[in-house]
Amino acid sequence: MSRRYELIAPVYDVVSGEYPVYRTGRTLGIDLLGPRPGDQVLDVGCGTGLNLPALQQRIGPGGVIVGVDRSPAMLAAAARRARRHGWTNVVLVAADAVESGADRLAERITAAGGRAETDAALASYALSLMPEWDRAWAATLALVRPGGRVAVVDMREPTVAAWRPLARWACRLGGADITAHPWSAVERDGLQVVAAQAWAGHLQARAATVPARGGS
Ligand SMILES: C[S@@+](CC[C@H](N)C(=O)[O-])C[C@H]1O[C@@H](n2cnc3c(N)ncnc32)[C@H](O)[C@@H]1O
Repeated sequence: MSRRYELIAPVYDVVSGEYPVYRTGRTLGIDLLGPRPGDQVLDVGCGTGLNLPALQQRIGPGGVIVGVDRSPAMLAAAARRARRHGWTNVVLVAADAVESGADRLAERITAAGGRAETDAALASYALSLMPEWDRAWAATLALVRPGGRVAVVDMREPTVAAWRPLARWACRLGGADITAHPWSAVERDGLQVVAAQAWAGHLQARAATVPARGGS
């Protein structure tokens, strides 16, 4: 899977179906996440940085975006995007979100110039690519401060039967498990969960507030 994104990185923005489909989901997810000016936002599986423009609008120059991805080629594309826009508040970290664990991720993030504890975290179209996504989720949740926000945007089968073959094909092409439904973790672990969906339910977004450690 890693190799898939190494190869696909130069054309990802064009072939990923961003327009007209997947941009809708990231917009919904970032709206639900509601990052504020000055926040540090962790973007897990950040890819080429398609979330960066909308996140920048929310956090402003006083905020920080920490993008974590295991594909150097995808991160290189994200770095180019940041340079093109003159964003100096983007910290990019090459790490496997499943294997690293929260402590190691925190070390890598601080070494790269971010803060270990983050105000908000987002994973868009990323957890469903990770067979053990619950480990990446646990690490992500542990890095968000109590009272901070988390959001997951991901895919499931659309309710319109005629769209299902296309949705399945798109997920297979990207290496995503359309049956993973990782937003269920937001519903399980978050407080005041909010939800949105689009494209006949193919795109699912959930966001919530992170409870105090050791329960709410
Ligand atoms: C479909 S792309 C989505 C990228 C971006 N979040 C977006 O919304 O466009 C999935 C990304 O997850 C990354 N990824 C997959 N497994 C990962 C893992 N275990 N740790 C970190 N990144 C991973 C891939 O390298 C790829 O960049």
